[in-house]
Amino acid sequence: MKTGQKPGKNNKLFQYVRAYKWSNIFAMIRNMRRDPEICEARFDGKLVVITGATSGIGYFTARKYAAQGANLLCINRNPEKSEKLRREIETEFAVKCEYKIANLSRLKDIFRVSRELSELPLPIDVLIHNAGNYLTKRELNSDGLEKVFVVHYLSSFIMNYLLTDKLKAQEKSRILMVSSEGHRFAVWGLRFDDLNWEKRRYSGLKSYGSAKTAQLLSMLIFEEQFRGSAVTINTMHPGAVKTDTGQENGRFYRWYKRNFLDKGLRTADISAEALYYLGAATALDGVSGKFFNLTTVEEPAPPAADMDATRELWDQTLKMTGLAKQA
Ligand SMILES: NC(=O)c1ccc[n+]([C@@H]2O[C@H](COP(=O)([O-])OP(=O)(O)OC[C@H]3O[C@@H](n4cnc5c(N)ncnc54)[C@H](OP(=O)(O)O)[C@@H]3O)[C@@H](O)[C@H]2O)c1
Repeated sequence: MKTGQKPGKNNKLFQYVRAYKWSNIFAMIRNMRRDPEICEARFDGKLVVITGATSGIGYFTARKYAAQGANLLCINRNPEKSEKLRREIETEFAVKCEYKIANLSRLKDIFRVSRELSELPLPIDVLIHNAGNYLTKRELNSDGLEKVFVVHYLSSFIMNYLLTDKLKAQEKSRILMVSSEGHRFAVWGLRFDDLNWEKRRYSGLKSYGSAKTAQLLSMLIFEEQFRGSAVTINTMHPGAVKTDTGQENGRFYRWYKRNFLDKGLRTADISAEALYYLGAATALDGVSGKFFNLTTVEEPAPPAADMDATRELWDQTLKMTGLAKQA
């Protein structure tokens, strides 16, 4: 917490409210109706690492890259679903579809899989952080950390951090983080005195918004660190699409989602087209540090563009994950 900031209070709320631009909100609404740019180029023989490929956006994206000739390495938590996906993709597209099992809500699994990836003898052409969860109630992992924050933010942070040397040594690499317009739910910005939701009432939308805001903020520092190398890092909103998200919640939430939230949503092939474009299109060579709504660049909400917050978050993250001791 910054000196002078009272616990439980975010003194930046007014700063953020003043920085909001209506034009950005209108742009977001317009962009929600747009289709993604399409990349026709093939991606033969390239390696794409993707988290959470067993359902929804990750599944469609894995199929899209495979259809264009890429080999896949999926990081999934469910062995049966992973094996089914491997068989389906290898049979249909004649590419390799390997997988590693990791529960990305557990630090131990995240560290293990990150180290395994950093030792891969092959270059990773595109790394897609897609795995995500939505919880209406606060749940902690065995490290005592709130699970939404871990899956969306800490898992991508730790992987990027531990893969930095490998990726920088490559000829070229792109990191894509599947973010969300839902980062805008964190209107008040991150609460550095309570990243783990111990002092406030938990809400699904707020915790989701905070985790996605943290991910967007981390992109700004990684972008600085990759500058001058051939690694780019970008974030994207994949559209409002119908997927299995939220299935870990109770019966009422699932009923409500099926009968209300899912109505009118688009299909996840638009997300896959966008993630393919962002990973493969030469038009994006060298483009880094951006937030895309599908394939259109957008300005994120002010709390997700706060450079002071990025530095504080970076330091806290290194401490909270134990990475500070290894640095
Ligand atoms: N759907 C939308 O409209 C929308 C909008 C904005 C952003 N997003 C973002 O898009 C991403 C994908 O979500 P989705 O909508 O496609 O949801 P989904 O259908 O529920 O897919 C989520 C994927 O993440 C995996 N996953 C969840 N928790 C995990 C964990 N602890 N460890 C490893 N893998 C885990 C799931 O595995 P299982 O198959 O084992 O469950 C699944 O493969 C998320 O980051 C989400 O925030 C979605």
